[in-house]
Amino acid sequence: MQFQLSEDHQLIRQTAADFAKSLKAGVIERDEQATFPTAFVKQMGDLGFMGMMVDPTYNGAGMDALAYVLAIEEISKIDASTGVIMSAHNSLVLFGLNKYGSEAQKEKYLKPLASGEKLGAFALSEPEAGSDATSQHTTAIDKGDYYLLNGTKNWITNGGKADIYLVIAQTHPEKAHRGINVFIVEKGQEGFTIGPKENKLGIRSSDTHSLLFSDVKVAKENRIGEDGFGFKFAMETLDGGRIGIAAQALGIAAGAYDLALAYAKERKTFGKPIAEHQAIQFKLADMEVEIEAARLLTYKAAWLKDNKLPYGKAAAMAKLHASEVAMKTTIEAVQIHGGYGYVKEYHVERLMRDAKITQIYEGTSEIQRLVIARDILR
Ligand code: CAA
Repeated sequence: MQFQLSEDHQLIRQTAADFAKSLKAGVIERDEQATFPTAFVKQMGDLGFMGMMVDPTYNGAGMDALAYVLAIEEISKIDASTGVIMSAHNSLVLFGLNKYGSEAQKEKYLKPLASGEKLGAFALSEPEAGSDATSQHTTAIDKGDYYLLNGTKNWITNGGKADIYLVIAQTHPEKAHRGINVFIVEKGQEGFTIGPKENKLGIRSSDTHSLLFSDVKVAKENRIGEDGFGFKFAMETLDGGRIGIAAQALGIAAGAYDLALAYAKERKTFGKPIAEHQAIQFKLADMEVEIEAARLLTYKAAWLKDNKLPYGKAAAMAKLHASEVAMKTTIEAVQIHGGYGYVKEYHVERLMRDAKITQIYEGTSEIQRLVIARDILR
């Protein structure tokens, strides 16, 4: 068993940490104004972060899941919105396209996505299909030469800014989840409109929209995999996506902890730094233990994926625990800061708002428990 990072992994972590430092200056304004970090997303492309696990043949960086986790963790310590933009693009779009896309699909779509030239979005959730992902109302009916796509998708990360979308839709309602397919759809296709931007509690500078499809013609060659493969494609995609969200939650928790620790050493009450009061020491000790446990679960899930071992349960465990730790740690970080924690300049209130979504997207905590329990009882 090896608990030390390789030199390559340490280098990736350092590169991500250096990049994350540059995110700090404008992070409060981007959050307040819900501004998408366009220039930073471009920079992530230049650093190879927008195609991390894709082979260099397709413009990727050819790195592994552990490298990906390290990068998201560092970025999310400072700016969880930028973390999720990168995570949704890599885990939810590039993973499936890389693994199951045809050569032509990879040439046309994966290459510009992996270089960071284009941005991707994954469209699974619907007004009535969140946790129950089988209940797809969006339809893609086979019209011979093309599929006709109709329906609405909700809560789509990168929804307004993306160029290329993976859209899950029902082709054969009588076959239930075995009739679902996944399609590549491009921004600007006739009948495809983007709904208004969501005004969110947290991760406010990430870009979340509903998508509307009205008689959109999707070319036959834009279906990924065999007819009816879409649901399994989505589930496998989410297994990997949950490792990314675990890393995001871990980063949020670690970022809040770093701030709370620094503040506790500086801030004085009753004649000494608050870090010298046992009430604060107990909080710091609990944070340290819980973050480390979340980190080990997350790195292990990535390690399993990298070693081609089953990782669905491990990913759900990592996401479940890391997101709960993110919530708990950020609440405590605000508490340690007292009144200062409640104002924007000290960053921890933002991290607390950002933490909440990690218990909701890519499957709520309840869904993670379901995935874990099913695996245990199988
Ligand atoms: N990998 C591959 N196949 C899988 C799978 C997996 N991890 N999990 C299930 N499947 C397959 C099963 O083998 C089964 O196939 P067969 O019928 O051919 O045997 C099929 O899928 C159906 O499986 P289940 O009966 O287990 O499906 P279910 O409907 O009972 O439950 C669920 C599945 C775990 C609840 C699933 O619906 C789920 O994960 N829901 C949550 C969805 C979710 O995470 N949504 C978030 C949206 S994306 C998002 O948030 C992105 C963002 O913007 C950041």
